[in-house]
Amino acid sequence: MKTYLVTGGAGFIGSNYIHYMFKKYGENIRIINVDKLTYAGNLENLKEVADRENYTFIKADICDSEAIFKIFEENEIDRVVHFAAESHVDRSIKDPDVFVKTNVLGTLVMLNAAKAAWELPDDTFKKDKNFLHVSTDEVYGSLENEGEYFYETTPYDPHSPYSASKAASDFLVKSYMDTYRFPANITNCSNNYGPYQFPEKLIPLIINNALQGKKLPVYGDGKNVRDWLYVEDHAKGIDMVQEKGRLFETYNIGGHNEKENIKIIHIILDTLQEMLPEGDPRKELVSETLITYVEDRKGHDRRYAIAPDKIKEEVGWYPETMFEDGIKLTIRWFFENEDWLQRVTSGDYQNYYEDMYQTR
Ligand code: NAD
Ligand code: TYD
Repeated sequence: MKTYLVTGGAGFIGSNYIHYMFKKYGENIRIINVDKLTYAGNLENLKEVADRENYTFIKADICDSEAIFKIFEENEIDRVVHFAAESHVDRSIKDPDVFVKTNVLGTLVMLNAAKAAWELPDDTFKKDKNFLHVSTDEVYGSLENEGEYFYETTPYDPHSPYSASKAASDFLVKSYMDTYRFPANITNCSNNYGPYQFPEKLIPLIINNALQGKKLPVYGDGKNVRDWLYVEDHAKGIDMVQEKGRLFETYNIGGHNEKENIKIIHIILDTLQEMLPEGDPRKELVSETLITYVEDRKGHDRRYAIAPDKIKEEVGWYPETMFEDGIKLTIRWFFENEDWLQRVTSGDYQNYYEDMYQTR
């Protein structure tokens, strides 16, 4: 039975990944979830798995070497899936320091702890160990022309403090692979959407605001393009890379689903109208008149797009969920989890939200 150490498992993608893995492997794996529970980490995301005997939660900061080394000393870890990070570009523009601490120094701690646990006296590594570093396509920078795609060979050109910190962490992982032959993979994925996404990111923010009749802030001209990937497809891709990918390789995981932000907003509004039952008071609130163009994000990357050819050819993964289906699954989840939304939009998040949008 393999033991997985998942970092950041209480966040959006991490919690979806843990649900996916238990659905797929049931009792045949053990998962240890290490999370600091920042504003973005919510144990409520994992309440269905909390009592499983093959699941353990440890509240710890990945920058805390002592705590992380102890986990590796006390458990024979086979797989690391490293999600923990500060993940929101707007926050990184306001406060880059914590991005460097968690994303760069935290990744270094994770690498050192796994290396110490897995390295043999002859400088080789124990068999069948894997450290999968979850990264982003934002490290490749911005595509300016239609028809261009990010490939694994595209040079890094990060623009935001967030993407720069992720690029630095990717390079650290790469350096451990190149220098020590440390058994790892890097995945760079496109924008995820789905259940449990914190409503500071575009899709859940628009769903949440539209249902309350609040303004829908569109940065700049609304024509920036993102390549949307349904989060469960991403979880499956990560598992497939660890099981079928070639060690030391990078795999891009993309939705092949490029859309302008304004188009996404229109799709969400139309889908909400379609899915809200007649007589539901929210039906009156959901309206295109809420769309509000606001000041652009500083350094706003124009377009991201992944051609997921390598992962398809080598691993057999492809994005299965069409956007029209994925957005309905997501909206249905938000309908059924209004209390979740209310809780995460109170407190800290509320303060942040007001601070971020007061000048827009
Ligand atoms: P998230 O912000 O929803 O969750 C991050 C999780 O990490 C939270 O549970 C948080 O508590 C935890 N965390 C933060 N700092 C920590 C620390 N110092 N120690 C321990 N835990 C800490 O992020 P997400 O959207 O789920 O993203 C997960 C990973 O995927 C990140 O590495 C991100 O860069 C990458 N990624 C995300 C997207 C996306 O669309 N969301 C796209 C590409 C790549
Ligand atoms: P976001 O979800 O923050 O992801 P990322 O910046 O990592 O791609 O933003 C997605 C796109 O939506 C990006 O082009 C910025 C834009 N955006 C808005 O127009 N309004 C908003 O309120 C937010 C949060 C994002």
